[in-house]
Amino acid sequence: MTPLETIFWHPAADAIDPGRVPQRRLSTGAAMPAIGQGTFGSDHVDASTMAEAVLGAAAVGYRHFDCAAVYANERAIGKSLAAILRGGVRREDLWITSKLWNDRHAESDVIPACRQSLADLGLDYLDLYLVHWPFPNFHPPGCDVTSRSASARPYIHENFMKTWRQLEKLVELGLVRHIGTSNMTVPKLRLLLGDCRIRPAVNEMEMHPHFQQPELFEFVRANGIQPVAYCPLGSPNRPERDRTPEDTSDLDDPAIRKIARDHGIHAAAVCLKWSIQRGAVPIPMSISRANYRANLLAAVGDPLTDAEMAAIAGIDRNCRLVKGQVFLWKPDQSWEDLWDLKGVIPS
Ligand SMILES: NC(=O)c1ccc[n+]([C@@H]2O[C@H](COP(=O)([O-])OP(=O)(O)OC[C@H]3O[C@@H](n4cnc5c(N)ncnc54)[C@H](OP(=O)(O)O)[C@@H]3O)[C@@H](O)[C@H]2O)c1
Repeated sequence: MTPLETIFWHPAADAIDPGRVPQRRLSTGAAMPAIGQGTFGSDHVDASTMAEAVLGAAAVGYRHFDCAAVYANERAIGKSLAAILRGGVRREDLWITSKLWNDRHAESDVIPACRQSLADLGLDYLDLYLVHWPFPNFHPPGCDVTSRSASARPYIHENFMKTWRQLEKLVELGLVRHIGTSNMTVPKLRLLLGDCRIRPAVNEMEMHPHFQQPELFEFVRANGIQPVAYCPLGSPNRPERDRTPEDTSDLDDPAIRKIARDHGIHAAAVCLKWSIQRGAVPIPMSISRANYRANLLAAVGDPLTDAEMAAIAGIDRNCRLVKGQVFLWKPDQSWEDLWDLKGVIPS
């Protein structure tokens, strides 16, 4: 494998013109590519493989990358971004997201954590910085479903606002263009919208045909917040801790498969077209060139029909995959307690 520092990056002969990729207009007026490449290796893809995938994805036309400190690959991805920029892509044509990990919520930690991601990614600013989870509860990479952090706490709004104020400062310092949330619920977002000076531009949330989250999706859109869809393909290779026997598979759903057959495309492409047409920004992850190119092609190819969109709306199974058990703060809790299902935030 060629060292990433010395790589000569150039667009691929079969690249999809990034100018053809739909853009989302955010509440700030900025444009965000309506599909990005995820970079979470699900505990089994190493950092250099993911960095190679970022180089390859940019070569086939991706300009949007969803990163996070906890993915433990930002330094390797930074080398890919440097090569992409050396190869002639302008910084303003890239959209780079990173996320504050749960062990850096303390007021004094937020700005240094962001500066660390910037240094690792080799950038002067991020397009988007998210609070990865609304809890400060840490789990180590690769942990199993029974892992709990000793200092785990429930959501405490006052504490979250202290973290959010620091994100607002990052915008004022020019280190970050937009700030946003991830793994939030309607009750938590209501509190944040009541108290923030800078509103979240984006909410990153699990979303795929078997987990459509209609209430949260409509709530964020009604509040001018762009939904970004993680696990848009139903994360077929997700870590063990995120698997239960009840989970269902979007890619094997008969309705998705029928639409795929009718269009002559893979089921993954159907999930992505649905996500984009619904108004979300999916961020599929792939380390396979054929797959990530096909995913980008899905964003620029023929749309689904209204009837196909309606058929997919009808297959929601309310099947949350990233249940978040490792963030629970009391014994005998169930993962449902993390998601405010009764409309209140449990203490
Ligand atoms: N904010 C959060 O808390 C949070 C949580 C989870 C994920 N995320 C973000 O969302 C991204 C996506 O989620 P995810 O990676 O869990 O799930 P995903 O994108 O739904 O699924 C990824 C898997 O699908 C396979 N795949 C991709 N394209 C395919 C295609 N065209 N045909 C068949 N298989 C295909 C990939 O395998 P190959 O590599 O073999 O193609 C990969 O293992 C992450 O990488 C991360 O950036 C954020």
